[in-house]
Amino acid sequence: KMKLFIDGLMRRMTLEEKIGQLNLLAVGFDVTGPVVSKDVDANIRRGNVGGVFNTYTPAAARKLQSIAVKETRLRIPLLLGYDVIHGHRTMFPMPLGLAATWDLGAIERSARIAAEEAAADGLHWVFSPMVDIARDPRWGRVVEGAGEDPYLGARVAEAMVRGYQGPDNDLTRPNTVMACLKHFALYGAAEAGRDYNTVDMSRQRMYNEYLPPYHAAIDAGVGSVMSSFNDINGLPATANKWLLTDLLRRQWGFQGFLATDYNAVNELTDHGLGEASQAAALALQAGVDMDMVGEAFLKHLAPNLQKGLVSQADIDKACRRMLEGKYRLGLFQDPYRGVSDKRARQVMGRPEYSAATRDLARRSCVLLKNERQTLPLKKAGSIALIGPLAQSQRDLIGSWTAAGDWKQAVSLEQGLRAVGGPAVKITYARGANLTDDRRLHDQLNAGGGQLMFDARSAEEMIREAVQVAQQADVIVAAVGESAGMTGEAASRADLGLPGQQLELLKALKRTGKPLVLVLMNGRPLTLSWEDQNADAILETWFAGTQGGNAIADVLFGAYNPAGKITMTFPRALGQVPIYYNHKNTGRPALGDPNDKYKSSYLDVPSSPLYPFGYGLSYTSFEYGKPELSASTVKMGQPLEVSVTVRNTGNYDGEEVVQLYVRDLVGSSSRPVRELKGFQKVLLKQGESRRLTFRLTSDDLRFYNEELQFVAEPGAFEVFVGGNSRDVQSVGFTLEAAPGL
Ligand code: IFM
Repeated sequence: KMKLFIDGLMRRMTLEEKIGQLNLLAVGFDVTGPVVSKDVDANIRRGNVGGVFNTYTPAAARKLQSIAVKETRLRIPLLLGYDVIHGHRTMFPMPLGLAATWDLGAIERSARIAAEEAAADGLHWVFSPMVDIARDPRWGRVVEGAGEDPYLGARVAEAMVRGYQGPDNDLTRPNTVMACLKHFALYGAAEAGRDYNTVDMSRQRMYNEYLPPYHAAIDAGVGSVMSSFNDINGLPATANKWLLTDLLRRQWGFQGFLATDYNAVNELTDHGLGEASQAAALALQAGVDMDMVGEAFLKHLAPNLQKGLVSQADIDKACRRMLEGKYRLGLFQDPYRGVSDKRARQVMGRPEYSAATRDLARRSCVLLKNERQTLPLKKAGSIALIGPLAQSQRDLIGSWTAAGDWKQAVSLEQGLRAVGGPAVKITYARGANLTDDRRLHDQLNAGGGQLMFDARSAEEMIREAVQVAQQADVIVAAVGESAGMTGEAASRADLGLPGQQLELLKALKRTGKPLVLVLMNGRPLTLSWEDQNADAILETWFAGTQGGNAIADVLFGAYNPAGKITMTFPRALGQVPIYYNHKNTGRPALGDPNDKYKSSYLDVPSSPLYPFGYGLSYTSFEYGKPELSASTVKMGQPLEVSVTVRNTGNYDGEEVVQLYVRDLVGSSSRPVRELKGFQKVLLKQGESRRLTFRLTSDDLRFYNEELQFVAEPGAFEVFVGGNSRDVQSVGFTLEAAPGL
């Protein structure tokens, strides 16, 4: 039916109208590149536009759509997109925080709520999930993804696609939006963590370590894909036919459409691939269907066709895919998808959405340290609330705030007062600016009312904070990064707390009062001093609209934290990239510093400060030794791994039980550990539970040097524990199946 409809439509389309479908323009906010769309309405009328992004509301969506369906010759509806990354109006924690929940159901629900709100606001298409595996915290965009692990990344990618596109993947339902998988591909491996930078990587590493989340999202039926900005092994992704056609479509069977990132076709010129007309031809032939903002397709495809640089079939193919995407969304039946002010009023900011974001924000918090049970705090006595992030509402909702209104966000101070109640006395001092660079401060905090640069000297601000701290029973220091220090074009060359914040903490430490750090940041930071000197450290990322309440719930013990980090925290910047699933080398360091000729550093241990999967609880858990259903298993047969976990502390609590595998002998070297499963369980005080994981030969497969996906017979080790470091292990042997 769809084919017949689109065949009929395409027969009536002129060349210009077909090329118009490949053109994506932006109106309104969030300009992230050097080009800004002009004359959008007039271009729509001329049939020059296939989609528009960066605008929303029922009125704005209806206005644009009515131009397309009433004033153009063929009345083809527009596709309306937006960067809905972690919520639309109700803001959820940033994706790195969402991943730290290890709660796939809750993550899916966040995307479902985002879809409900975005669809009611006139949007059809969201530029999410971002599934780029990232091992370099200098890269500002690590905050937008699920972290460093391909297995977890793949599960999160599937959950997000299901959430946006709905459980039955029927995009004609008006409360769904089409997801856009990004950034294809390997954007997270940008050299030196500098945004947009080059990637050079073996195919084997790509397939084993970086591609699984993209592949999982394709298998989950994601409707569209965005190509990445970076160069891959000498060819930018946007012009990379191997990537966009051979891998994505031929090997993986992707059927949807592919859009570029912002102005990326024109940027092929800066990559050195030729002038804009040539760039347009290269991108189209590589497999790009839609050109974001740059208008290179609009300008150059018709002349390119005349010159024989592209074919009519190339243009038709891309146009067909765009029309198919619109058809899947039901836009030809109802171009407005039922949007109205009434529906928007019913959907936006429902109380259950607030409850959901508060719940997710609590779950995303990771307790990194808690000496002498400093936390939870008592709901009595006095707190010195110090730090540049203590009163911030703007930072709590993070970057890519979509239609989120920071003024509705609950600051940490507001949350502490609300949850702590009248018996808790709170006194505040700012203590430091987020950065000493005033220009940068104002640029990063544009729109943040409470965050005017404090022009006092650092000494004066610290002195005031110390005076406040001396009067209190406990210090809660809200330190970290501004939301603007993370996200696109926000790479950092230093991973410490910026500005004078460390000096502030040192001065607070000297008061001798218990020191609790509440970190708000979008990447792993180097926290060695903090780890040695703070009494408790709670990582809260950028926690979203209900952030302050959620953090206060955790600090006062209304919720027992259970989050686990999904990126390794280094001890020192020089360790980067540092990740848990590394190879062993021929000279692994075994911990003896006198053992010189080993793979290690002279000045810092090789181990991370906090390993992947790490996070504490107010209670404690004891793990039994893992047991296997068999010590030898034949290829194709499942293996059960069981473990008993007991809550040995004084609180009910959740634990993320993690299962890792190591392939001890292979035709290629294999990582020292790879996550292959996890279960999040709630255990009451004193309760113990036996958990069973099922491993199959599929879980043991990897891409060998010939890029065949194989499981190889031989010895394996299974590890179970509460993080990637503190594990217990047991071995088994995989045998070839008879006849193999
Ligand atoms: O979706 C984003 C992308 O992640 C980075 N560049 C701009 C796009 C559209 O805003």
